[in-house]
Amino acid sequence: MNLEELNATATSERLARMKKRHHMYVCVGTACQALNSEQIAKALQAALKQSGQSSEVEVKCVGCPGLCSLGPLVEIESQINGQVAPGAAEDERRRSVLYQFVKPEDAGEIVAHLDGEPVKRLETPLNQPFFTRQTKIVLEHCGKIDPERIEDYIAVGGYQALLKVLTEMTPQQVIDEITRSGLRGRGGAGFPTGLKWGTVAKSDPSAYPTNVPEGIQSRKFVICNGDEGDPGAFMDRSVMEGDPHRILEGMAIAAYAVGANQGFIYVRAEYPLAVKRLRTAIRQAQRAGLLGSGIGGTAFSFNVDIRLGAGAFVCGEETALMASIEGGRGVPRPRPPFPAESGLWGCPTLINNVETLANVPPIILKGAAWFASIGTEKSKGTKVFALTGQVTNTGLIEVPMGISLREIVFDIGGGIPGGRQFKAVQTGGPSGGCIPAQFLDMPVDYESLAKVGSIMGSGGMIVMDDSTDMVEVARFFMEFCMDESCGKCIPCRAGTVQMYRILTKIQEGRATRRDIQILEELCDMVKHTSLCGLGQSAPNPVISTLRYFREEYERKVNGAQGSEVSVGSEEWGVGKLTAHSA
Ligand code: SF4
Ligand code: FES
Repeated sequence: MNLEELNATATSERLARMKKRHHMYVCVGTACQALNSEQIAKALQAALKQSGQSSEVEVKCVGCPGLCSLGPLVEIESQINGQVAPGAAEDERRRSVLYQFVKPEDAGEIVAHLDGEPVKRLETPLNQPFFTRQTKIVLEHCGKIDPERIEDYIAVGGYQALLKVLTEMTPQQVIDEITRSGLRGRGGAGFPTGLKWGTVAKSDPSAYPTNVPEGIQSRKFVICNGDEGDPGAFMDRSVMEGDPHRILEGMAIAAYAVGANQGFIYVRAEYPLAVKRLRTAIRQAQRAGLLGSGIGGTAFSFNVDIRLGAGAFVCGEETALMASIEGGRGVPRPRPPFPAESGLWGCPTLINNVETLANVPPIILKGAAWFASIGTEKSKGTKVFALTGQVTNTGLIEVPMGISLREIVFDIGGGIPGGRQFKAVQTGGPSGGCIPAQFLDMPVDYESLAKVGSIMGSGGMIVMDDSTDMVEVARFFMEFCMDESCGKCIPCRAGTVQMYRILTKIQEGRATRRDIQILEELCDMVKHTSLCGLGQSAPNPVISTLRYFREEYERKVNGAQGSEVSVGSEEWGVGKLTAHSA
């Protein structure tokens, strides 16, 4: 498919869409699908058929629109007038209604109310802060397009960016554009994406010994890291499920920029829906000539294969991930050499995470300056978070960098349910830290989170109320790291076990002050001597809870009950606060 054909497909899809009076978007993301949402779509289609409206109403199965706690969700978009005035603003032409907790048996009533007042008992406002306070770039199509139809993606501008770079830009111009945008890796570390691309582009595939299997022609590779493993995180899964073509397009642009002809998506086998939709998307893109040989009628070729991970957390670490793709045991290796110089089978390899790659097509289409205008000075664009825990609205959100934690928790998240108080928010999963209430007004960006002892991570955000036992939180994450440690290096293999034992001892009331001291020494040792990021960051939840909630540790050691206590040291600028938890 060349640019002309792509435009023709987009136009005919849009025209077909305009002929429908109503569009029903039924969420078939994992959470809603588990609540029977595919049956809702079928029931709506049956009700439309019965009422003779099938030809005027479109029922679309879509990815997660975000507010999973109210799912299954069905959004209905209707033309206000049968005639659409050219140039009319979108909200003058259409009105939208969102229905929550929908069941298949609600279908008849929903269809009966299509042209009248919405079904009040099911309606939830679309103008609530959960939706209005977000800025959607990565998630802009999730909830709006059928992820299993390439035509839907093309109709919203899909693959335009890829054909633009292939026909109008040199690889270096693409790298320069990504560099100027200020995009940083969304997998956790926040490394500048343009710099990484530039390094792979410059790397000589013959500089290191290689052992590429027969049949693979490429000597550089692009890997999409979809090995999302943090407890409570589902950002990448939702993007893979809701907008898989966006990831393929981002990968193909990256491959053109760095000179790769083969890509791999590494995704967990326990994400079957994401795997299914990615497979469908790859097949469709190949048939459309948007993946494979001579993409868009140009000389550029790029193939993508999927590799399934078996669920080991450490395989999110890039050298372990590559070892797993090569068919070996997923264990990290020392760096250098970095994957950008010697990665998969010894060849220069670009590894970006799902969200990073999903940001690429809009940057190419709208320009680096547009992207750089969103966010803060050093953290550009938006960040997708999986908002979970003790917060009213749990689900998937995308916010501009620099938004405060307070806005996320209390405006978008709707606050703490059950009349309880906010206590902390945990970002960055097992590698991150717990941020207490005094930092609620802190901007959420890479630098600020690091300053208070946490990390951006890939986007897990767990809200905790005042009933939360912070030592138990630290113990939970330490148990996770202990289980997931690959065992290659002693500090992590043995250190996580020892730290977990001490935390258990504290929880069981058998510990002394000396144990806290040993715990701190172990944190320091494991952090500074482990081989890979898993071990280096495993102590973070302990360090941050000791820093901000030390009195909870001391109370358990002393056997005393809650009172006015110190929760940190002067070094971190932490004052005093009343401990609410028992
Ligand atoms: S730090 Fe832990 S996970 Fe990483 S190599 Fe060492 S033992 Fe394996
Ligand atoms: S999966 Fe349906 S709203 Fe998130």
